[in-house]
Amino acid sequence: MQALREEIEAHNRRYYQHDEPIISDSEYDRLLVELQTLERRYREFAYPNSPTQRIGAPPSQAFAEVLHEVPMLSLENAFTDEAVNAFDLRIREKLERDQIEYVVEPKLDGLAVSLLYENGLLVRGATRGDGRSGEDVTHNVLTIADIPRRLAGSGFPERFEVRGEVFMPHAGFAALNERALANGEKLFVNPRNAAAGSLRQLDPAVTATRPLRFLCYGYGSFPERTLPDTLQQLMACFRQWGLPVSEHLQAVLGAEGCLSYYRRLLAGRHELPYDIDGVVYKVSRFDAQAEMGFVSRAPRWAIAHKFPAEEATTTVLAIDVQVGRTGALTPVARLRPVFVGGATVTNATLHNADEIRRKDIRIGDTVVVRRAGDVIPEVVKPILEKRPAAAREFIMPDRCPVCASVVEISGDEAIARCSAELSCPAQRREAILHFASRRAMDIDGLGEKLVDQLLESGRIATVADIYRLQADDVAGMERMGQKSAVNLINAIGKSRETTLARFLYALGIREVGEVTAANLARHLQTLENIMQAESDALQDFPDIGPTMAGHIATFFRQPHNREVIQALLDAGISWPEVEAPAGTASLLAGKTFVLTGTLESMTRDEARQRLQRLGAKVTGSVSAKTNYVIAGTDAGSKLDKALALGVPTLDETAFLGLLKGDVDQDL
Ligand code: IVH
Repeated sequence: MQALREEIEAHNRRYYQHDEPIISDSEYDRLLVELQTLERRYREFAYPNSPTQRIGAPPSQAFAEVLHEVPMLSLENAFTDEAVNAFDLRIREKLERDQIEYVVEPKLDGLAVSLLYENGLLVRGATRGDGRSGEDVTHNVLTIADIPRRLAGSGFPERFEVRGEVFMPHAGFAALNERALANGEKLFVNPRNAAAGSLRQLDPAVTATRPLRFLCYGYGSFPERTLPDTLQQLMACFRQWGLPVSEHLQAVLGAEGCLSYYRRLLAGRHELPYDIDGVVYKVSRFDAQAEMGFVSRAPRWAIAHKFPAEEATTTVLAIDVQVGRTGALTPVARLRPVFVGGATVTNATLHNADEIRRKDIRIGDTVVVRRAGDVIPEVVKPILEKRPAAAREFIMPDRCPVCASVVEISGDEAIARCSAELSCPAQRREAILHFASRRAMDIDGLGEKLVDQLLESGRIATVADIYRLQADDVAGMERMGQKSAVNLINAIGKSRETTLARFLYALGIREVGEVTAANLARHLQTLENIMQAESDALQDFPDIGPTMAGHIATFFRQPHNREVIQALLDAGISWPEVEAPAGTASLLAGKTFVLTGTLESMTRDEARQRLQRLGAKVTGSVSAKTNYVIAGTDAGSKLDKALALGVPTLDETAFLGLLKGDVDQDL
């Protein structure tokens, strides 16, 4: 327990005093829960000054001290539905009511401040500190646009305190770190620490440059007789006085209401422009709050229901190398299993050797792992303070780990590749899986397990062999009954009827994605034309550069590939004839576009894809050959160049019109 207390204290200092935590919030919560559990069990060792009984850290000497007239408390955490039900039950029992009304709102991930207003004027702003005394940051809070210097409306008490959270939205955080990077300054690890570091600046002029926001969620010192009955009424007053209140604040009934609110916000958390780490439930009536009272560090009438953490720390047990469809060797971190973002993560891709070097990740390191929403898990960074002496650097093998062929590094991409192509079993396996995948030939039921067995038993070696399979060949395989075998054969049969675009995509030619495959089909119309096209001719088509054109031409030149294609055609794969492109009718086909600046209605990437789908070519730099420059807001040098060269420019409205017009014509 003593060791735990010391460890937590050390983390508190890093988090609260230096804005530089080295463990994730969830890891911290875990330590705290562990200590709480021990203290409950061994009460004789539960000291009153334990970190479980205290809040934050003492204020820094660099600021004047503010003694809080009403202590600034923390919140109990709930991590499960059961804990929320238990919280609600405790309150119902104590208040002897059947149903409780709660005010619910997001739990912002920033830092708490208390603002003192006298006669409608902001006279003091303070941080929470250790809850009893905090730091005087009046000059700094005055630079935050959300915080009114003078209250609006009327009816506010002569003297009262508003409490809320100062935080930094994602966009501001990204911009701040970008600026810091450009100036060679230290980066902030996350928006919370950036907010804390920005508010606790000795020079308010620095704070003024930081994109801080504020929302209030409660009150401190407040003349009791002027308090309304409920928290939502008080929040409505705050709004009238010009104090910002969360637009997501709501009143709900019972644990049920709380939990359904939780689920809604959990699903929508990534839509918010700032970090939230959970939701807070508070008993709505002030008289009921008073009856519930407090424990040492938190009120009994409120609880924070935390979201599953999206970041956690774990160790890198090994770095393995996987061989992909195109032979690319991808290093994969094998991790000590860790529960993060609602799932147990054991692997995370490290992309390539450059990335490992850039992030300085070593085998044996303790690392921060992030899994947000549906995004695949990533290793964010190592925690250097925890690097063991025996940590080893990763070395990219010079032989393929699957077939031992020579590994080549192609200069421009810095990607290591197995040179064996389809004679490498790993590449063959991935090629077959890609061929069968939903967006390619769409063979339902031909998944990893089955492909592995089919390859191992020698029943298939190329994609063409798939079409020779009989139900009896697969019926005996693991997890395959007669019925699923028949289903699979039917799915294979059905896949024979496809489109030229899908077929091209299914072949798995390097760098040829769905869009390129569709463009090739559209412009050349027959497989024969495509197979015969010279690399130079291919480059005339939108979206195809010299490298890709080279890949396409090389692919079709290889005898093995030609044989497999012939076998596929012999197996009965066919597609409807492709009609000649509307061509002349399509305004955009073959035209070259450059995108610059920010678009309101879509990202630049979406704009590029939409243009490409319509047959246009999108390039990165403006030249005399450019047909149009699409200029969003804050367009820079590219727009200048277009104007200098006399290239027509379109603003967003004109661009949308062009897209629409073209689509209409295409139809
Ligand atoms: S209510 C008596 N509401 O979370 C304490 N707190 O973990 C009442 N926080 O210190 C706090 N969003 O800094 C409340 N909507 C919200 C909040 C919130 C963030 C912070 C606050 C508090 C900490 C506790």
